[in-house]
Amino acid sequence: MGIIAPSILSADFTRLGDELNLVETAGADWIHIDVMDGQFVPNITYGPLIVEACKKASNLILDVHLMIEKPDLIIPEFARAGADYISVHAEACTHLHRSLQLIKSFGVKAGVALNPATPISTIEWSIDQLDFVLIMSVNPGFGGQKFIDSSIEKIKALSALLKAKNCDAIIQVDGGINKDTINAVSMAGASSFVAGSAIFNTDNYKDAILNLRQHM
Ligand code: DX5
Ligand code: ZN
Repeated sequence: MGIIAPSILSADFTRLGDELNLVETAGADWIHIDVMDGQFVPNITYGPLIVEACKKASNLILDVHLMIEKPDLIIPEFARAGADYISVHAEACTHLHRSLQLIKSFGVKAGVALNPATPISTIEWSIDQLDFVLIMSVNPGFGGQKFIDSSIEKIKALSALLKAKNCDAIIQVDGGINKDTINAVSMAGASSFVAGSAIFNTDNYKDAILNLRQHM
């Protein structure tokens, strides 16, 4: 069954604890935490403090997406704050293989995130370190954007590459995932689906998550 990971970027931060409980009760599998530094992406969000708060408030797996420059400098803080999965952007890592090793050294699952324009060949020689690959199906920085259609072909190519290398890394897709896009994404080989606005911009999270699963 596919993993549904609500992105808290679209949650109501005036009551984040309640929001986490609501999506957990509604059947979410992971909590996707979008960290932005205003440098790598044109937006600023939150840091390890929010991961600590989510760890206290939720039993779900915390999936931390680092959209930041020089992630190695702060990976230890996110690991200590309670991240279960951490993805770094290949475009932000001078030494990607070593960044992934650093994440794993804390017992945290390691992932690489690829922007829409970044080829999947970028990860070819880091595959031995990968627990998951995050395909950005929007340009990172904001929720509620339109799904980039070329992502489907990219997911299929990634799936073929991972199979060819005997790698069982999870394919996660992030951006513009909703009832109209999730089936093609799932058929292309993804098994973890980040959804922000498709869940938090509705008045019934249970129905929203069920809707995504029924269209998967
Ligand atoms: C964008 C973030 C995504 C975003 C998804 O930079 O990485 O996780 O929150 O939001 P939706 O699902 O609304 O496109
Ligand atoms: Zn994200």
